[in-house]
Amino acid sequence: TSAARVDFPHVPSPDPTPAAQRDGLLADPGFGRVFTDHVATATWTAGRGWHDTAVRAAEPLTLHPAAAVLHYAQEVFEGLKAYRQPDGSVALFRPDLNAARFARSARRLALPELPPEAFVAAVSALVRADEAWVPEPPASLYLRPFTVATEAFLGVRPAEEARFLVAASPAGPLFAGREAGVTLWISDELSRAAQGGTGDAKCGGNYAAGLAAQTLARSHDCDQVLFLDAREHRWLEESGTMNVLVVTADGELATPPLGTILDGVTRRSVLELAAGHGLTPVERPISVEELRAGCADGSITEVFATGTAAVISPIVAFRSTAGDFAVGDGTPGPHTRALHAELLDVQFGRVPDPRGWRVPV
Ligand code: COI
Repeated sequence: TSAARVDFPHVPSPDPTPAAQRDGLLADPGFGRVFTDHVATATWTAGRGWHDTAVRAAEPLTLHPAAAVLHYAQEVFEGLKAYRQPDGSVALFRPDLNAARFARSARRLALPELPPEAFVAAVSALVRADEAWVPEPPASLYLRPFTVATEAFLGVRPAEEARFLVAASPAGPLFAGREAGVTLWISDELSRAAQGGTGDAKCGGNYAAGLAAQTLARSHDCDQVLFLDAREHRWLEESGTMNVLVVTADGELATPPLGTILDGVTRRSVLELAAGHGLTPVERPISVEELRAGCADGSITEVFATGTAAVISPIVAFRSTAGDFAVGDGTPGPHTRALHAELLDVQFGRVPDPRGWRVPV
């Protein structure tokens, strides 16, 4: 059901967090562990479409034990942030891209597509209701829209009932305390996605499939995993929560092409900012041999990873069964730092926004 304007009427929580307690939580929110008082929600029923839109108290969900999402992982989600601006207002960053990707992901998982204008309306209505939860920079309010198949049915077919929700979580960067750079474990055994699979959809199953590799990375003293392609175990894909980009000595900002990886909003944004930093953005296959040799001979000067949660994380070293290697001198490079600073300045409203990336709530 597409409407020109979709309302998410606010039914205030009867039991909001006291202000003093909220301010205490906002002082050091970490990532993904503190939640606001409300959620935005809508219900979808086959034949009827989307209905019962609202912003209301964040409460535990009641699901039938046979709800399809619990068995067949029919679920998609998004991640975006609301940023406190210098004048006290709040802005989203390119929410149209999240809305479009959410619809693409839903199509791939045979879930109902939420119209993009309803996505932006839901997120904006929730941020307005929980405005007091938007922290001061450098923290922000992480928003987690998702759709789950709620129909109680154990036959395998697309569910005829689904629920859309948006949860909000004040958050610092995913790798707080790791500003000096992260280390990636090159996974030559476990893959994340294959051609024709769900690698370019943002669905919970992709993240579940990556957890064992992430655990392996941790056991090798790495912060995250770097996935290679499923067929040859040779071509760089993504890191599971981040896209990966390399800076070459001849001025390329290169990153693996779309297909089996997430079409990241931060990835896309830094490619669009590259020219302003004297870099040529290129989407092309990058092999692990090129990465290893380039880091050794200096033809690859910097590597970093992007994500809404991770923002821009410098990658300063790799580990693998074939040996470890550092990037450059093992500290964050100048292009990484400059792109990071520019991105944060745009998001937090500290510089003009000629591209119209900031959207007021
Ligand atoms: C994001 O960056 O928004 C993500 O979804 C990555 C992760 C925290 C799941």
